[in-house]
Formats: sequence, structure tokens, C-alpha cells
Amino acid sequence: MLTIAVSKGRIYEEALPFLQQAGITPIDDPDKSRKLILQTTRPDVQLVIIRATDVPTFVEYGAADLGIAGKDVLLEHGAESLYEPLDLGIAGCRLMTAGPVNVQPVKGRLRVATKYVKTAQRYFADLGIQAEIIKLYGSMELAPLVGLADCIVDLVDTGNTLKANGLEPRELIANITSRLVVNKAAMKMKHQAIQALIDQFETTLAQR
Ligand code: ADP
Ligand code: PRP
Ligand code: MG
Repeated sequence: MLTIAVSKGRIYEEALPFLQQAGITPIDDPDKSRKLILQTTRPDVQLVIIRATDVPTFVEYGAADLGIAGKDVLLEHGAESLYEPLDLGIAGCRLMTAGPVNVQPVKGRLRVATKYVKTAQRYFADLGIQAEIIKLYGSMELAPLVGLADCIVDLVDTGNTLKANGLEPRELIANITSRLVVNKAAMKMKHQAIQALIDQFETTLAQR
């Protein structure tokens, strides 16, 4: 049995063509079903539906053999504990700093709101900028508007969310797409099945 961890929403939607071309169609729709384990048209493959940020954890501990996760999530989790054999090129966006339009440079310690605490810490440290990182779980764009932070580190795609909140994108931290990740032990123990799946995903990717 192969277990694949995916999150609901854009990653599931965009990963579905890859899965389907490998003969893996979930029996239940994750948006309608309350089930967290989905059986598929392949009796040897099941999906577990989890939060996007939990995918590396499930795969690292072998609770799932494979997973599909955003590079943002992998950067934050630390990817040394996982194999990352394939960039699926889906859910593309940018991890950026952003702040209010037309503000004076901050004096002293920069306050940065983000859910990407480690990535932000590393980024500002590498630049030699003194930053106080304020951990949030969502709606980062609100932080500068209410005086909680000077700027944010968040994902930007169209830029509409920033614009709607009077913020502008500033520095690019990383280009983001979703990756296939594999548990290290499973890669050995279930090598044939996993390699076949990677090959199939690669074929799908090449056809795009
Ligand atoms: P959540 O925000 O609940 O963690 P999402 O489905 O919104 O879950 O995000 C999952 C992944 O999709 C992120 O880790 C990131 O890699 C990517 N992503 C997030 N927001 C966007 C966006 N606006 N456009 C494209 N990709 C995105
Ligand atoms: C994501 C991200 C940004 C927004 C950027 O939020 O956290 O807020 O997309 O996209 P844009 O540049 O095209 O506006 P999402 O839509 O995933 O909502 P969420 O807060 O539920 O994660
Ligand atoms: Mg989101």
C-alpha cells in the first residue's frame, strides 16, 4: 500500500491531473466527504487529507510514503529529512517581503509578521538586518495595518491581496511551486512502486 499526503484546496486541485494520469482517482471528493483517508481507483494507493503545513511531518515520520507540499512549507520545515525528487510546477507563487505603500524606512529593530518564522529569521539574518519576528497563523496582511508589524513575509501570486490592503511587494525571498516529497525509508522499502509513480508524474510533467 502507498499512502500519499495532500492538502485540500489548490494543491489537491492542481495535483489531481498527475494522480489521475497515474490511475489514481479518489473514490470520494475531499470537499464533500468528511473522510480523512480516501481510497482510490488503485487498490494499492490511498490519500490522506491534511493541512498543507503538516505534509512534511507526515512524510518525515512515515505516516505517509509520499506527499505534495509547497516549497514554502518545505523551506520552513527543513527538507533534509525528506527526499524531494520532483518539482510538479503547480501552485506557483512567490515568498516575499511586503509592506505599506509610501512609508519611511524603519528606525531600529524591524518587526516582521509571518507564519514563516524560521525562513524569515534566516532571510533577515543573512542580510544583517535586526528583525523581530512575530508569529501569526494567517491574515498576515493585516499586521502592518493595525501597527502589529512594520512588514510581513507572505506568499504573493497576483498581488491582489496586498493591493486590497494598501501593501506593496518588496523583496523576493523564493520562487515557490509544489514538490513531490518521499519518506526516506519508504524510498528504499517500496522502491519499485514509488519510482514508478515518480516516473509517471515526470511523464505527465513533460506533456504539459
Ligand atoms: P493553507 O493556506 O491553508 O496552508 P493553501 O492551499 O492556501 O493552504 O496553500 C497551500 C500551498 O499552495 C502553499 O504552501 C503554497 O505553496 C501554495 N499557495 C498558497 N497561496 C497561493 C496562491 N495565492 N497562489 C498560488 N499558490 C499558492
Ligand atoms: C494566499 C496567501 C496570500 C494570497 C496571495 O492566501 O496567503 O494571502 O494567497 O495571493 P494573491 O497575491 O493572488 O492575492 P489564500 O488564498 O490561500 O487564503 P488563506 O488565507 O486561506 O490561506
Ligand atoms: Mg492559503
